[in-house]
Amino acid sequence: MKEVLAELESRRATARLGGGQRRIDAQHARGKLTARERIEILLDEGSFEEFDMFKVHRCTDFGMDESHIPGDGVVTGWGTINGRTVYVFSKDFTVFGGSLSETHAQKIMKIQDMALQNRAPIIGIFDAGGARIQEGVAALGGYGEVFQRNVLASGVIPQISVIMGPCAGGDVYSPAMTDFIFMVRDTSYMFVTGPDVVKTVTNETVTAEQLGGASIHTTKSSIADGAFDNDVEALQQMRRLVDFLPANNTADLPELASYDDPYRADMSLDTLVPDNPNKPYDMKELIRKTVDEGDFFEIQESFAGNIITGFGRIEGRTVGFIANQPMVLAGVLDSDASRKAARFVRFCDCFNIPVVTFVDVPGFLPGTSQEYGGLIKHGAKLLFAYAEATVPKVTVITRKAYGGAYDVMSSKHIRGDINYAWPSAEIAVMGAKGAVEILYRAELGDKDKIAKRTKDYEDRFANPFVAAERGYIDEVILPHSTRRRVSRALALLRGKTQQNPWKKHDNIPL
Ligand code: HXC
Repeated sequence: MKEVLAELESRRATARLGGGQRRIDAQHARGKLTARERIEILLDEGSFEEFDMFKVHRCTDFGMDESHIPGDGVVTGWGTINGRTVYVFSKDFTVFGGSLSETHAQKIMKIQDMALQNRAPIIGIFDAGGARIQEGVAALGGYGEVFQRNVLASGVIPQISVIMGPCAGGDVYSPAMTDFIFMVRDTSYMFVTGPDVVKTVTNETVTAEQLGGASIHTTKSSIADGAFDNDVEALQQMRRLVDFLPANNTADLPELASYDDPYRADMSLDTLVPDNPNKPYDMKELIRKTVDEGDFFEIQESFAGNIITGFGRIEGRTVGFIANQPMVLAGVLDSDASRKAARFVRFCDCFNIPVVTFVDVPGFLPGTSQEYGGLIKHGAKLLFAYAEATVPKVTVITRKAYGGAYDVMSSKHIRGDINYAWPSAEIAVMGAKGAVEILYRAELGDKDKIAKRTKDYEDRFANPFVAAERGYIDEVILPHSTRRRVSRALALLRGKTQQNPWKKHDNIPL
């Protein structure tokens, strides 16, 4: 017996070494952790249970029959994050560059199947060179089956991808179908085809960072939802994110102990909106002053800053926040902002996370670049997402709610449950200047007349009361009471049930 135990220990030690000490050292020299070190930081101490540690590939081409490394380039299993189960796979770059073989794919599929069956989140850590070149179509088939499982799990369990090294070819499409992608600055990149292929096909010369580094995917392409400075920070932030997420689409929201009074008044909010309606203010201040303990996990912070999306908690329970940001492009809705917020609203709706919307929006951004870029369809995505959402929806208009953007931003007309406005709200088809220029074009030469018309329009529409008179606003509230109002609204809506008509699936304007 003793010998068998010793053999097991020796086999385990070999598997744990992956591609060997030389390659582990090279990994560290690049500022990256190994696949197993990453799992250790991600999960609660001692909670990781590994599967398929001894699995090896079955390829015999290109001399591969002489090269077997137990585990075959991916470490898989499950563990806990603050006591809650998650499934995890972590690509091991030290083993054949983390490339995906048929058996490597089978290991991932096993974890995907278990996560779906047992309804717990799955986290994939990527650091790999794409399809195992020696395996050809067997590797491609493996990718296809992983993709299929990503799609079936979408909307049932949260799926998170963390990119911590190269991620190219087949490896990019699995993350692209998960709920969130996070990257590590300077050591990770994602692209379908790398700089060499780009040079051959388009004659462009680009570095890997310029083509698909975190700086690109968090600001330009919006592929990534966030980036962190190093592996440790990224993994710790993933623990924080998981704390916000329910285990699946029928599970209760996680509830954390909160010591922040849900009725806490914040008098500073009474002066947040400046007297001058064209002066910006920081909407994040309102979010931070509304959520428990000021704890806000922002999604896509560096992309389309004119809208803010992220998770916070009220009375210890997760809430998704969407808010126009007057500090960026006056908070206007453009194509990027609409897409960003639409995806976030849909995530919240999938997982029964209530949505709180703070509105200060001057409308949709005019211009050829927006119209040619499909603003109509992108704006419709956000409208569609809000209108189909059946989760509790609480809306607070702080200042402007103009035009179509008023309707879109979780208005009463698209099933906003509780819609509040601050006294500073202005709810109208457009701002006074634009309205007067259209209505009184003939009088534009007469400054005094125009000034009076503008004043009349402002008196009539630059307030929340016209909407409140119609019941489009449930109540005009004092800014300092926002947290109390939102807390009470969410408590009221805890039992909300609403169902859309049966359909195979909808046809959101993609
Ligand atoms: C087999 C691979 C591999 C691969 C890397 N390796 N990629 N082995 N298949 N795809 C091995 C290398 O041979 C090397 O082995 C080790 O991993 C480390 O690789 P290096 O090149 O030395 O590392 P580095 O210089 O850091 O470059 C990393 C890299 C590069 C940028 C990822 O390896 C690379 O470009 N790989 C190929 C990427 C690619 O084109 N993949 C196929 C994509 S097509 P040793 O033994 O020396 O340590 C695809 C199609 C799927 O994925 C489509 C499905 C939809």
